[in-house]
This record gives sequence, C-alpha cells and structure tokens, in this order.
Amino acid sequence: MKNIAVIGAGTMGNGIAHTFAQSGYQVQLIDINSDAVEKGMTTIIKNLDRMLSKELITQNQKAETLANITTQIDLKKGVEKADLVIEAATENGDLKLKIFKQLDEFSPIEAILASNTSSISITKIAAVTKRPNQVIGMHFMNPVPVMKLVEIINGYATADVVTQQIMAVSKKLGKIPVKVNDYPGFIANRILMPMINEAIYSLYEGVAGVYEIDTVMKLGMAHPMGPLQLADFIGLDVCLSILNVLYSGFGNPKYAPCPLLVNMVMAGKLGVKSGEGFYDYTTTKKAETIAKQFI
Ligand SMILES: NC(=O)c1ccc[n+]([C@@H]2O[C@H](COP(=O)([O-])OP(=O)(O)OC[C@H]3O[C@@H](n4cnc5c(N)ncnc54)[C@H](O)[C@@H]3O)[C@@H](O)[C@H]2O)c1
Repeated sequence: MKNIAVIGAGTMGNGIAHTFAQSGYQVQLIDINSDAVEKGMTTIIKNLDRMLSKELITQNQKAETLANITTQIDLKKGVEKADLVIEAATENGDLKLKIFKQLDEFSPIEAILASNTSSISITKIAAVTKRPNQVIGMHFMNPVPVMKLVEIINGYATADVVTQQIMAVSKKLGKIPVKVNDYPGFIANRILMPMINEAIYSLYEGVAGVYEIDTVMKLGMAHPMGPLQLADFIGLDVCLSILNVLYSGFGNPKYAPCPLLVNMVMAGKLGVKSGEGFYDYTTTKKAETIAKQFI
C-alpha cells in the first residue's frame, strides 16, 4: 500500500493526511473547493511547526511530509491511483452514500474504501458499492497526529484479509488499532456520547453548572477534560448527530438527545468551531461558561 486518498480536508481529514504523509505514504488530500484544501494545508503546516518547535520532528521530516501531500479538488483524479481511500467528509449519511458510489466508480477495483465516520453504519455505506467486502471503518481520534487509537470497524461483509491489511497499515502509522463490529456508535461513541448527553442533562436540570460538572469529572474521574468541554471540541452538531444515530439505531429512549443540546445546535452554538458552546472561545481570557443562557 503506497497511495492514499483522503476525502475531506477538515479537522479529521487534514490530520489523517498529515499522519500518512509523515509515515512516508503518498497522499492525495481532496475537498470540494480550493479554499477548503488550502485551509487543511495551513493546519498541517501549523501542526508540523508545533512538532518542530518541540523537537519531535526535524526540518527535513517536515519538508518530506509536505512533499508527500498533493491537494486535489477533482475527486476522480484524486482517487484513480489509490490503494486505500479514507473518507473523512462531513458526518451526513446521504453525503457519505453519494461519495462511496463515486469512490466505487473512480478508484481501482482492488482499492480498499474506508470511512472515518463516527457513527454511520459501515454495512449501509458498503451496500452502495460493488465491493462491500473491501469497505471498512477506520475511526481515527482527534487530534489524529497525536492520538494513538484507531477503531477498526468490520462491516457485515468486510473480508478478514481487508481487516488484517488495515490493522497492519494502522500499526505502520504508529497507531494502536482495535477491532470492533458494526453496531450504532461502535464502541467509542456508544460509551462516550451517553456520558456527554448525561452531563448536558445534569446542566439542563440544574443539578450543577458547567464548571462544576466538568470539574467533578476531571478531578474525580481523572479525565483530562470535562465532558462539556470535550463536547465543545468534538462539535455540538457532531454530538447531536451521533446521539440521533444511537437513538434511531437502538430504538431506546436512553439515547434521546437532551433538549438543551438540540437548542444550542439550532442557535448555531457548536463549540470551538463556532467560537461558542458550553464555553466562550472568542475571548482571549480563560474560556468562560456561557451555556446557562440556553436553559
Ligand atoms: N471531529 C471529531 O472529533 C471527529 C472524530 C472522529 C471522527 N470524526 C468523523 O470524521 C468525519 C469528518 O469530521 P470533521 O470533524 O473533520 O468535519 P469537518 O467539518 O471539520 O470537515 C469535513 C470536510 O469535508 C468536506 N466535504 C464535504 N463534502 C465533501 C465532498 N463531497 N467531497 C470532499 N470533501 C467534502 C468539507 O468541505 C470539510 O472540509 C465525520 O464523519 C466525523 O463524524 C470526527
């Protein structure tokens, strides 16, 4: 495996491209327009500079990593030589099905098609292709260059040999792959999202404030970050869409998203990416808690 195509140059896509390129793979980084790919490249350069300043990489490694990445806004051109395609576009089921139909049409017949989806069924995505045995979930964690875990999701039809190849590639990146089966939320989000939702319910019901909830979980459970701050980092829209997948997938009301989360997303308060969520990221001083006004 040598040529990798990454679809989407956003938070996850640029991190995935960076990680493969740093391990010597040739990467095509693809998005819908040149602004999006440029934004992705700017983030990669910023992250490489941070690694350089911490002496984690050399100037040569930075140059080699950047030389291994080509940007592309034409999906067909970007995937036509790929051995492995990793889709990291927006978390939207219809969009992903459309992209996978195109990937099936334009990429080499032997290429493996992976999705970085947080929650959408790999089996459903695989079913729109003519190669469901070569479709798999490759769920990287944010920030990709730093986080060790890759959750590998076997769809209903994923071939064992494909799983083994993807486990091996993940190890070559210096990651630790963990294999799970394809049920709503897989493992990571099936466990994480109910915790985040419960934290939001606790706020909504007035049990405690943002600071108090996050502090209990940080100091009491040794979590590096409280659940409300983590939700801000993930994106409240992403959290809502994952909870909806769990809710509809299991048909169990315990996964119903808290009305406060729904309200905040409708109000455009999406967390770090919009500048406001449970905390205010627009001020230069320490983030203030702001969510109370939505209750
Ligand atoms: N953000 C996280 O912490 C996180 C963690 C794990 C997995 N994920 C998953 O990774 C995927 C990407 O999430 P993100 O946070 O990077 O989103 P993002 O919004 O930061 O980036 C998505 C990118 O996809 C691009 N895009 C949309 N349609 C496209 C198309 N047809 N072709 C090419 N590019 C297209 C957008 O322009 C955007 O640049 C989602 O499936 C998400 O669930 C996210």
